[in-house]
Amino acid sequence: MSNNGFKVKIGLASCSIAAGAAKVHDLLKDLLADDGIHLQRTGCMGLCYCEPQVEVVAPDGRSYLYGNVSTDNVGQIVEEHIKKGEPVEELLVVPPDGASEAGEYIGRQERFLLHNCGNIDPENIESYLDAGGYKGLAKAVAMKPEEVIAEVKSSGLRGRGGAGFPTHQKWTFARDAKGEQKYIICNADEGDPGAFMDRSILESDPHSVLEGMMIAGYAIGASVGYIYIRAEYPLAIRRLKIAIAQAKEHYYLGTNILNSGFDFDIKIREGAGAFVCGEETALIASIEGKRGMPRFRPPFPAVSGLFASPTSINNVETFANVPQILAQGAAAYNVHGTEFSKGTKVFALAGKVNRGGLIEVPMGMSINDIVFAVGGGISTGKAFKAVQTGGPSGGCIPAELADTAVDYESLKEIGAIMGSGGLLIMDEETCMVDVAKFFLTFTREESCGKCTFCRVGTEQMLRILERITEGEGTEEDIDTLEDLGSKIKAGSLCGLGQTVPNPVLTTIKYFRDEYEAHVRDKVCPAKNCKALIEYEIVAEDCKGCGLCRKQCPVDAISGGKKEPHVIDQATCLRCGLCVNSCKFDCITVSSKPGKTAPVDGQGMGAVS
Ligand SMILES: Cc1cc2nc3c(=O)[nH]c(=O)nc-3n(C[C@H](O)[C@H](O)[C@H](O)COP(=O)(O)O)c2cc1C
Ligand code: SF4
Ligand code: SF4
Ligand code: SF4
Ligand code: FES
Repeated sequence: MSNNGFKVKIGLASCSIAAGAAKVHDLLKDLLADDGIHLQRTGCMGLCYCEPQVEVVAPDGRSYLYGNVSTDNVGQIVEEHIKKGEPVEELLVVPPDGASEAGEYIGRQERFLLHNCGNIDPENIESYLDAGGYKGLAKAVAMKPEEVIAEVKSSGLRGRGGAGFPTHQKWTFARDAKGEQKYIICNADEGDPGAFMDRSILESDPHSVLEGMMIAGYAIGASVGYIYIRAEYPLAIRRLKIAIAQAKEHYYLGTNILNSGFDFDIKIREGAGAFVCGEETALIASIEGKRGMPRFRPPFPAVSGLFASPTSINNVETFANVPQILAQGAAAYNVHGTEFSKGTKVFALAGKVNRGGLIEVPMGMSINDIVFAVGGGISTGKAFKAVQTGGPSGGCIPAELADTAVDYESLKEIGAIMGSGGLLIMDEETCMVDVAKFFLTFTREESCGKCTFCRVGTEQMLRILERITEGEGTEEDIDTLEDLGSKIKAGSLCGLGQTVPNPVLTTIKYFRDEYEAHVRDKVCPAKNCKALIEYEIVAEDCKGCGLCRKQCPVDAISGGKKEPHVIDQATCLRCGLCVNSCKFDCITVSSKPGKTAPVDGQGMGAVS
């Protein structure tokens, strides 16, 4: 049968593949082959919460996005929609008019940077070129390098790697620095737990990052660029290698690019995945084959960086912005964002939110709008409690401050940071002391050990937090945490130590009552800390069905058929598995007997 005018795309990023998209792809390809329809591979389509996704574009150009597609239901889409023209309503997540929850999720975003993600084939340069790719480079090499930097300056672009440093200034320093050989480095280390912005961009639109690096190379006078990427990102590495080879074949990389006299080459260096290697001087040491440890600055990399040569280092997302700034002009970029934070920002929205995924919103959107309008609210149906921005280096913002605009200045004012783009949403059942402990456990492991405050201080802070969550803390411990935190910040060499205490300090600042309940009353208000809670079966409600007994991993539950069951507190691990297994809601979690009740009116959840 010949092609009936339908076009079909499937998202194949790492998380889509993990959700089964590769099998759906293979089956769909076979089914479509009969009708002569080409199945286009693409990257992240953005609705990461309902992978795998398949987009069907009808002959009239109307787009239908299907979610949670599996090998069981893909045949139905082909038979009913593609062969008979009847869309499968129950599998549709975004209909052509966008009138759906997922449509709202996409509709509330401004997908300026991610416009190619989920649209083009990341393994085919022609697909990138058809979407306007390499026009920014063509425009740049026809300008003077200083004019390119001036255009980036007018755009207001600030580095997306965390600190928000103005990109044009970094490029100017490197351009002005003396040196025959200069380098560009793309920082694709992305070490924040739970962050996947850079991986998704590289998997979905690798040429945009290469093009951004080439423009930066032209602007500062560099002829070589390195991409430092963690080896844990094999698909991104594979697609980058394909993109580099294709860019060479099309003469966008190599010598005398576009007849401009500009030479540029890009190499990939795989990192072992240490968080500290995202710090620019540690990263440079790692590329040079040395141990990845930060060093004193100055000299800054712009003056003496890779192999002691002037080096400009930027984040993946920073580079991905550059081609469009050049191609469309700074004014087109400027329409997005606030006075001092221009453009859009990509976030990895995760945690207890209904619609999590890779989102792109204009700078200045409020946290509330991100959580509720884009993310669809709290997934557990409980109250929204806090959001952690900036990963382990960031801060915890309480729901009361969720009307704060997400831009560099506003976040700094309330003690948080933008960071590279992780947004972790928490509900009222999250214990803030435990959250601080989680992040500190991570950063303590990642400290390179060079500075005493960072090495020993994080260890001490972690011990105190462990004590508090085990019900052994004292009120002085809270003061000690604050004191140590400020000393670690002041006495550390690199950004890791300088930001490590942030999750602890911000949770104490905004949730001091929870710390006090742990140390004073030996109660975890969120009923989360295992040493401070107990699971119990309400005897009069229990039907004796035995489901909880079968779930318990340590046989802590006993009871005869149709008789009330009992939990042996000495054996119970407090894993909570039994609670979810009981269909009659008769297992409760409460503070341990002997502990005093939480102080009234401190915003804590009720302790039964
Ligand atoms: C501990 C630590 C980890 C970092 N990890 C990253 C990272 O994974 N990716 C990144 O782009 N920047 C990271 N940074 C920031 C970089 O040092 C650097 O500022 C950034 O790559 C500059 O790019 P930008 O100007 O485009 O933001 C990290 C900094 C520190 C202190
Ligand atoms: S602050 Fe921590 S990670 Fe940074 S150099 Fe010092 S010890 Fe290493
Ligand atoms: S909380 Fe876990 S260990 Fe304890 S009784 Fe329930 S299932 Fe068993
Ligand atoms: S699952 Fe619920 S009703 Fe059944 S035995 Fe356990 S506590 Fe009782
Ligand atoms: S589908 Fe993987 S990041 Fe969105």
